[in-house]
Amino acid sequence: MSITILGIESSCDDTSASVIRDCVMLSNVIAGQAVHEAYGGVVPELASRAHQQNIIPVVAEALKRADIDKSEVSAVAFTRGPGLMGSLLVGTSFAKGLSASLEIPMIAVNHLQAHVLAHFIKQTPEDTRHPSFPFLCLLVSGGNSQIIKVNTYDDMEVIGQTIDDAAGEAFDKCAKVMGLGYPGGPVVNKLANEGNPKAFTFSKPRMAGYDYSFSGLKTSFLYTLRDRLKEDADFIEKNKQDLCASLQATVVDILMDKLLKASKDLKIKEIAVAGGVSANTGLREAFHNYAERYGWAIHIPPFAFTTDNAAMVAISGYYKYVKQEFCTMDTVPFSRVVI
Ligand code: KG4
Repeated sequence: MSITILGIESSCDDTSASVIRDCVMLSNVIAGQAVHEAYGGVVPELASRAHQQNIIPVVAEALKRADIDKSEVSAVAFTRGPGLMGSLLVGTSFAKGLSASLEIPMIAVNHLQAHVLAHFIKQTPEDTRHPSFPFLCLLVSGGNSQIIKVNTYDDMEVIGQTIDDAAGEAFDKCAKVMGLGYPGGPVVNKLANEGNPKAFTFSKPRMAGYDYSFSGLKTSFLYTLRDRLKEDADFIEKNKQDLCASLQATVVDILMDKLLKASKDLKIKEIAVAGGVSANTGLREAFHNYAERYGWAIHIPPFAFTTDNAAMVAISGYYKYVKQEFCTMDTVPFSRVVI
């Protein structure tokens, strides 16, 4: 019998709902929240209010696009954490209401694991591309930078992670000081395509193991701007392409160095990437170069599955449904969760 999962994602500033039937995505609806742009970052209180407004139409649209009736849903999966508490509460409460009214099970999903499992979403029944276990997944987003050893669908080990800022945060904060708006990552990426990645040198951390650090890079970027602006008030405007290209090249080098070390040490050449920063074209290019140079089998998800989306929550729910791992009505969200 088919398993149909309705996934709900509301961990940050995207309200999303998706229907997945037996690993095949039938719909994936995402409502973003433009309200935060004016503030240069996500405002938690505004995010939870927007989720409240969006959640019902988004779920209704996901069912409509999937061309199913809600009575066909086998279980409702929702993001339990990590994320913003006020945002998570909206998705969690909605899932509880739906589960109670339809008398179907409820499945709690870890947002970070869901990013990894996005690799198993099938866009068509014939779609067979996915990583084989064990694989390494570089999870890079606005809130996380981790290297995860994925042993099975539900057995994941974080072998390295950032001790301060996340890679996306480094992009966003550096973009902010250049006055490029929020979120800065995509803008930096666009400008970087027109710049020289060797024009400026920013500091890279020297750390043992597989952990990351991006705060030194951020400081070195800030100091470069501060010093050069003293000489020329138009320094940023005149050099933004080169600044972005050099920043992006440094972030990519930092990410790839540790990933290569982990791949060599653990002798794993099956390598995946997940999270919003995996949209970065410099990082994608580096993945292709490393694949050629080191014989990696690389897995880069379609763009729609790199940022926050409910399809990744629904696919995670699917694998939990198979194992009958349901949660109860007293389940509460977690703002911070480790895998
Ligand atoms: O995974 P995500 O959508 O949200 C969470 O952080 O949960 O990731 C958002 C992050 C932001 O920091 C954004 O600037 C970054 O991903 N990002 C990019 C690009 N697209 C999104 N960073 C660099 N290059 C991009 N093309």
